[in-house]
Amino acid sequence: MSGAPAMEADAMEGLKAAMAEAASEVDEMLDALLPKEEGEERSLFAAMRYATMGGGKKLRAFLVLEGARQFGVARHSALRAAAAVEMLHGYSLVHDDLPAMDNDDLRRGKPTVHRAWDEATAILVGDALQTHAFATLAAPETHSDPAVRAELCLQLALASGARGMVGGQMLDMMAEKATAPLDEAAIGRLQMLKTGKLIEFSAEAGAILGRAAAGPRNCLTFYGREIGAAFQIADDLLDLTATAEEAGKATGKDAGAGKATLLGLLGPERARIQAERLVEQAKRHLDGFDERAGLLRALADHVIRRRN
Ligand code: IPE
Ligand code: IPE
Ligand code: MG
Ligand code: MG
Ligand code: MG
Repeated sequence: MSGAPAMEADAMEGLKAAMAEAASEVDEMLDALLPKEEGEERSLFAAMRYATMGGGKKLRAFLVLEGARQFGVARHSALRAAAAVEMLHGYSLVHDDLPAMDNDDLRRGKPTVHRAWDEATAILVGDALQTHAFATLAAPETHSDPAVRAELCLQLALASGARGMVGGQMLDMMAEKATAPLDEAAIGRLQMLKTGKLIEFSAEAGAILGRAAAGPRNCLTFYGREIGAAFQIADDLLDLTATAEEAGKATGKDAGAGKATLLGLLGPERARIQAERLVEQAKRHLDGFDERAGLLRALADHVIRRRN
C-alpha cells in the first residue's frame, strides 16, 4: 500500500484508538456522575449505569470532545457535556427498545433494560437519565459561565424534544402503520429529527462550551447535520447487512416492521451513494478548520464504513 490509501488507513487506525480512549474517559465520567448502586432505589441506579456505561461507540460523546478541542475547552468541561449527551442518548435507546416501540431484546450485545429488569424500570431509567443529563449540563462544574450552561440546556432540549428526537420517534412509529409509503422528503425529515438532531447538537456543543463565534459554530453544526443523516442511513444498511453479533442488536427487522428508511425507498446502492455524498459535504464544512479537526474528518468517513 502506498500514498493516499495508506494515509487513509493510518487515519482510521488513529481514529479507532482515539475513540476507544475517549469512550473509557467518558465511562469514567459517567461513573462519577451517576448515582452509585446503593440505597433503596439501587436497582434503578444499577439499570441507569447498565444503559450508559461500558458499551456503545460513544460517538456522540466523541463529537462533543473533538468539537471542544477546536476551541481549547477544558477537558473536564467537555467530558461532562459528553457524558450528558450519552445519558440522553442512553435514555432514547432504552425507550426505543421497549415493547411498545421497537420491541428489542438485545442492545450493545446484552439484554435490553426491560428484559434484564422490567418495563416499568426501563421507563423510569429513561426518565431519570434524561433529567440527569440536564442536571449535569446545568451544574456550575460544567462551565463557569451560566449563559453557556443555559445555552447547552436549551439546545439539548430542542434537539431531543418534540421538535427533535422525540418528534422523529413519533414519525417513525406512525410510518410503521401508514397506508402509503413515505416519500424521500418525509423520510429525510423523520431521520433528521430522530437521529440527526442529537448528533448535530453533539457536534455543536464544543463550540458552545468554547464560546465560539457564529461562523465556526455553524460550521460544526452543519458538519453534525450531514453526518447525522449519513449515520442513520448507515444504521439502516447495517440492519440489512450486519449480523446481530456484529451490531450488538437484532438486525434484519426494519423491512418487516414497516420502517420508513431511505434504504427501503432507494435500495442499498443509491442509499449508500447518498450517505457518501453527505460525508463529503460534512467534510467540506470543516475546510476552514486546521489539523486539529483531523479526527472529525476521519470520523465522517468512519460513520458509513463501520460494522457496528
Ligand atoms: C443507535 O445509535 C441508534 C441510532 C440513532 C441509529 P448508536 O449506533 O450510536 O448506538 P451505540 O450508542 O453505539 O450503542
Ligand atoms: C433509533 O433508531 C433512534 C433513536 C432515537 C433511539 P433505530 O430504532 O433505528 O435504532 P436501533 O437500530 O434500534 O439502534
Ligand atoms: Mg426505533
Ligand atoms: Mg430501534
Ligand atoms: Mg436501526
